[in-house]
Amino acid sequence: MSKLANKVALVTGGSRGIGAAIAKRLAADGANVAITYTKGADAAASVVNQIERLGRKAIAIQADAAEADAVVAAVEKTVATFGRLDVLVNNAGTAIPKTFEDTTLEEMDRVIDINVRGVFVATQAALKHMKDGGRIISIGSAAGERALAPGLVPYSATKGAVKMFTQGLSREVASRGITVNNVQPGPIDTDLNPAAGEWAVPQKAFTALDRYGHVDEVAALVAFVAGPESSYITGANLTVEGGMNAYRQQHQPSVPSVIRVCGWRVRRSSPMRYPTYSQRRLYPILAEKISESPRGSGNREGLGGLAPIPVTVRIRKQQRYPHEQPKYHQHHCQ
Ligand SMILES: NC(=O)c1ccc[n+]([C@@H]2O[C@H](COP(=O)([O-])OP(=O)(O)OC[C@H]3O[C@@H](n4cnc5c(N)ncnc54)[C@H](OP(=O)(O)O)[C@@H]3O)[C@@H](O)[C@H]2O)c1
Repeated sequence: MSKLANKVALVTGGSRGIGAAIAKRLAADGANVAITYTKGADAAASVVNQIERLGRKAIAIQADAAEADAVVAAVEKTVATFGRLDVLVNNAGTAIPKTFEDTTLEEMDRVIDINVRGVFVATQAALKHMKDGGRIISIGSAAGERALAPGLVPYSATKGAVKMFTQGLSREVASRGITVNNVQPGPIDTDLNPAAGEWAVPQKAFTALDRYGHVDEVAALVAFVAGPESSYITGANLTVEGGMNAYRQQHQPSVPSVIRVCGWRVRRSSPMRYPTYSQRRLYPILAEKISESPRGSGNREGLGGLAPIPVTVRIRKQQRYPHEQPKYHQHHCQ
């Protein structure tokens, strides 16, 4: 018999990417499935169709994870349609990659509202209906365990919150026979984090397996946690990240401390571990000027051995007093 026969699952953000793969996999294992989405009605309808072709029932509900009323209504509609709720997968999530200093309060609120508040609200609503054997599964992130890349401060913070939410709640609902777990993917090829492109290069490099993961590889772990064989697993943070968090600091690619750039020799004064094209544009290299270096003689050479491209360098001005705040000149070098 199918492992999830007669069970009902709700997957938030189930119209694309990891959520869609989870929804289809839970259906393949026997569950009837509700998914939520925000904008992609066609994508959501396509997931419903694929599940129905497997012989299961499915519904798609438009519900923004940041809207508490909509999230609660989605849970209620799932129960009203299928008569029960056994598995909640808190998958809806977002990231707004940029430096923390440039991140607006609105952007922080958006990430918190979807990644944390949405998880709280959906879980609270689901717990009203869940019975013995219920499963709360959240999709956190390997970035909630260890922050490797710059530009993801609020994202990492929210995924760290999901991790502790999981631990805390597991202690509260265990007596009801409900388990609570956090599945933490590493880089997975989706619209949110495509395996092709500049941002993918360091992420792939950080994995031990030297590749992006596939959505089905995350769905397989979620299906196991949703199923009967995971009965003794709760409060756990389970990574599916190709060995990314096993990465050791000293193996990280780094840039030599003295580099030539903009016609100067400069000494790097900040770690610069992500010398990809876009990261070099986004995150200025903090450096101290050592001496002039004739233009044309190895401009930007030494930047991880990559091809010369425009970079931004912030040169630290000489401080007159030790307690003075450091000041920088910012240069954009073509
Ligand atoms: N991809 C990765 O490398 C990676 C790594 C670690 C963790 N994760 C986590 O895995 C989860 C899924 O990521 P993904 O890569 O599959 O993302 P994705 O490709 O962008 O897909 C996101 C899905 O969630 C829905 N969605 C987006 N915002 C929503 C909202 N506010 N309320 C409800 N649904 C919403 C989207 O539907 P609409 O199009 O209709 O909005 C879509 O179905 C997220 O929690 C993410 O943080 C991803």
